[in-house]
Amino acid sequence: MSAAPDKLRVALVGCGRIGAHTPPHVRAACPPGWLPLNHAEAITTTPGLELVAVCDTDAARAEATAKEFSAARWFTDYRKLIEEVRPDLLSIATRTAGRCDIIEFAAAHGVRGIHAEKPLGRSREECQRALRAVAAHGVKLSYGTTRRYMDAYREAKLRFAEGSFGALQQVTIEFGHSALLWTHPHSVDLAVFFSGAREVQFVQATCAIPTEAVQGHFVDADPKVESAFIQFANGVRATLTCAGGLHTHLAGEHGTLTVGADGSWLEWNRKVTPDAAYPLAREHHVPPAVMSGTQRAFSELAAAVRGHCALGIAPEEIALGCDLLFAIVWSSIQGGRRVTLPEVPADLTISGRSGALFA
Ligand SMILES: NC(=O)c1ccc[n+]([C@@H]2O[C@H](COP(=O)([O-])OP(=O)(O)OC[C@H]3O[C@@H](n4cnc5c(N)ncnc54)[C@H](O)[C@@H]3O)[C@@H](O)[C@H]2O)c1
Repeated sequence: MSAAPDKLRVALVGCGRIGAHTPPHVRAACPPGWLPLNHAEAITTTPGLELVAVCDTDAARAEATAKEFSAARWFTDYRKLIEEVRPDLLSIATRTAGRCDIIEFAAAHGVRGIHAEKPLGRSREECQRALRAVAAHGVKLSYGTTRRYMDAYREAKLRFAEGSFGALQQVTIEFGHSALLWTHPHSVDLAVFFSGAREVQFVQATCAIPTEAVQGHFVDADPKVESAFIQFANGVRATLTCAGGLHTHLAGEHGTLTVGADGSWLEWNRKVTPDAAYPLAREHHVPPAVMSGTQRAFSELAAAVRGHCALGIAPEEIALGCDLLFAIVWSSIQGGRRVTLPEVPADLTISGRSGALFA
């Protein structure tokens, strides 16, 4: 099977909700900039890409997805797909368990670019292994932390960088009383994205974790984060709170900017002059969405594989986001004390279980 010579051949592993089938209630609720959200729709609407094969352990789902998105072949084993199809890009939308194994196998078998869903893995150890494999084989990696690819969040970062808000001091993320592996890969990535930091001084957090779920370095739960504080080495602080609304607030020396309702609007308050007492100049703005976050992730991954641009996320940022998730849980297990990243056990493993479901 061959794609047009100017197209990159893409394969998808995992044909569930984020892989291929956005549920109607999500489709109806998404603010501008979110759709298309699933990988198959994003791939088939991105110029220069061709979806050539799909894989799901559920054969009926794989076959139906191939038919729906006109992929020539379908598989139930990702290894067979990679060996037989030799795709340029691989999109991974399975649940977390096993995702790092797929990344390692793909990296070692000629895949040039990978888009992997979040969270990357269930322990620091396996995340680091996957990132090492990607680096060793020169593979480009993009990540399912969709917001950093969206116009609204990028515009917020650009506006702050213009300077009239002063230096960024605090990022506050209000993503509700949410589960660590399911939701907070997004929040920690926003903290990393807006802070521009690559190093952390300490993390201090409390989570709701059933006592019986903690067995040594294994946590059989997807802990609900009650609050988390991150002190970045560059001076920026980030707080994850239980407040709802999906707002992200950026506070600088001379003003504040909010990305509201998950990218639906931006609002900012600035001092009229730098020495004014209060930030009274207020503006509200609805950002235009040129493409969805998932489309941009694929589009930038393809451009990076072709050597045309840098990726929208650096491997160090993916690694830091993973480290922060495990530090949040470790701090909570340690009674909510400050922890540094090196003291978080590399084998601390979070199952991601919420009832019968896994992140
Ligand atoms: N980026 C986002 O905004 C976002 C949104 C939703 C979900 N997610 C993440 O995406 C992941 C998938 O979530 P979902 O809701 O789509 O799950 P899902 O259960 O609907 O889909 C996962 C699919 O992967 C298949 N699968 C599992 N292991 C496989 C393997 N080894 N080989 C081939 N197929 C395999 C399953 O059969 C299933 O069809 C989760 O880890 C979740 O955290 C990200």
